[in-house]
Amino acid sequence: MESNRRDERLKAGAQAFMVPSVNAKYSYNFSWLGRPIIQYPQDIVAMQEIMWAVQPDLIIETGIAHGGSLIFSASMLELNALCGGPKDAEVLGIDVDIRPHNRSAIEEHPLFKRISMIEGSSVAPEIVEQVKAKSAARKRVLVCLDSNHTHDHVMAELEAYAPLVSPGSYCVVFDTIIEHMPSETYPDRPWGPGNSPKSAVVEFLGRHPEFAVDDRFDRKLLISVSPGGYLRRIS
Ligand SMILES: C[S@@+](CC[C@H](N)C(=O)[O-])C[C@H]1O[C@@H](n2cnc3c(N)ncnc32)[C@H](O)[C@@H]1O
Repeated sequence: MESNRRDERLKAGAQAFMVPSVNAKYSYNFSWLGRPIIQYPQDIVAMQEIMWAVQPDLIIETGIAHGGSLIFSASMLELNALCGGPKDAEVLGIDVDIRPHNRSAIEEHPLFKRISMIEGSSVAPEIVEQVKAKSAARKRVLVCLDSNHTHDHVMAELEAYAPLVSPGSYCVVFDTIIEHMPSETYPDRPWGPGNSPKSAVVEFLGRHPEFAVDDRFDRKLLISVSPGGYLRRIS
């Protein structure tokens, strides 16, 4: 890991991959147990490491899309349970628009038994209240933010959901990479460098010393959509 960090050629190669691969929508190439998952494989492995280490009994995810990340989380909770982890662990997904074909496919999946979904904006007060109620009795909560990627939206999500994260667990903010991409990368999106999940993370960390970037993931992944986005609750 440390040698990776010092290897300028390797780091330059990784960065050289990131820009064209984001442009090529590389994250849309993959599926998990049959559902499309909009992630880079490196980040999926990092999430597996976190889910094994934390043994969450609740994973809260904003941004469902086709359901791949929900199925991935549910599969990890199932494996954790098989290996002696929490038996009743669940994943709760929130999306402003759960398309009927995606909802059906998720509901018909064998791992749906560990999934629940809420339709609505992740920052709407009534949605936040529902999520808080569902997390009240949980002991180890992990949060993943992957919905609207504007600064203000991610900031509002962080303020709403980061307090639910248990000490030692994580709030993972996806697509911080937007900050490091050329400004013309997202012509049809409201976000871009300066108005991104990363700019929200920087502001949030300035106000919340109970969280810190776990840079072990940055050091070893190199290829990731979430540089500086793996936030660990340290107190
Ligand atoms: C990048 S996709 C999520 C990908 C998914 N987590 C995965 O790994 O496969 C973003 C999703 O965020 C949803 N979204 C956009 N604005 C939202 C909001 N205000 N509240 C909740 N979800 C939102 C979109 O409908 C879309 O499905």
